[in-house]
Amino acid sequence: MSDRTVILITGAGGFLGRALAEALVKDPSTSHLVLVDIVEPKTPHGVDAIAIKADLTDQSQADGLFQTPYGVPDVVYCLHGIMSRGAEDNFDLGLKVNFDAVRAVLDSARRAGAKTGRPPKFIFTSSLAVYGGPLPEVVTPDTIATPQGAYGAEKLMCEVLINEYSRRGFIDGRILRLPTIVVRPGPPAAATSSFLSAIIREPLKGVRTTCPIGNSLSSPELDLAVWIASPETTIHNFLLAARIPSSSFTSHTRVVCLPGITVTVREELQALEEVAGKEALELLEFQNDETNHRIVSSWPARFDNSYALSLGFQVDKGGMVPIVEHFKKAVDAGLA
Ligand SMILES: NC(=O)c1ccc[n+]([C@@H]2O[C@H](COP(=O)([O-])OP(=O)(O)OC[C@H]3O[C@@H](n4cnc5c(N)ncnc54)[C@H](O)[C@@H]3O)[C@@H](O)[C@H]2O)c1
Repeated sequence: MSDRTVILITGAGGFLGRALAEALVKDPSTSHLVLVDIVEPKTPHGVDAIAIKADLTDQSQADGLFQTPYGVPDVVYCLHGIMSRGAEDNFDLGLKVNFDAVRAVLDSARRAGAKTGRPPKFIFTSSLAVYGGPLPEVVTPDTIATPQGAYGAEKLMCEVLINEYSRRGFIDGRILRLPTIVVRPGPPAAATSSFLSAIIREPLKGVRTTCPIGNSLSSPELDLAVWIASPETTIHNFLLAARIPSSSFTSHTRVVCLPGITVTVREELQALEEVAGKEALELLEFQNDETNHRIVSSWPARFDNSYALSLGFQVDKGGMVPIVEHFKKAVDAGLA
């Protein structure tokens, strides 16, 4: 990045948007932040920042993000969205926010970049939910994405546009297919995968929670494998995404599956027990939810990380236990 970088984050009031803004404040190349969300986001201390409340399904509000006193952003992190279960249950809203509003921001970025002659870097958070149906044992960059849910379909449609806008030089796109991020702090999200965090987070906070997979600690359903990454590694990779030269990406696509690790729901619970003892497990109830199980088990759980690692992206080391330990420290410090 140049010495003076104006960075726009959409969805800046959300989990990853807030964590990204905090990380960017500590990054010396950040000069100004433009933080946008449908709910006015908080501005962090330590950097010039503007908070904008905007509904990005409205094109004129999306255009406004490129007309602030800071000028046209050099980097756009496009993070706003409706999560997987929300998009599945309210199809029209999911389509509007996860596709129409991404297209609106892309078009604003395209027009602004055409005026300055500098196409903004456009970093988009896609998801492993673009995959579904019959899949190979290990997903590779050649695996065709055939989503089996509204959220994955919307993400894939955005990816197609971002690749095309990049090919035409309207923007400089970087599409990050994220694993499920665990442990997510705060209240449960409207994501089908939300329980993967809740079964760690809530017991560590001394709160009862329901695991929607299986009916007891010995259920075979707990062998469901998932593909995850920690928030810390993910945010580190978000910063890297803006630094990788566009020439480093494979010529025909800007898609990268960010590195992750495979864990089963049972392994998550074993890590919880190792870090917080048997009493943490006693705070769990089980109630199998068929819709949840169907969607999560349609997602792939094993990926070939080598392309992402060759670009410089990082992977969590040491499995689930360090992730749970890290979150426990945050809980003990009153930060989660
Ligand atoms: N967290 C994960 O495990 C995960 C995994 C894969 C992909 N992703 C993607 O990463 C991105 C960030 O995820 P997150 O976990 O921070 O989600 P989040 O739900 O915490 O944040 C999304 C934000 O988007 C905002 N938003 C919704 N509609 C809007 C609109 N019309 N205009 C402006 N803002 C609007 C919400 O208010 C919210 O603050 C999303 O695009 C998500 O799909 C997340």
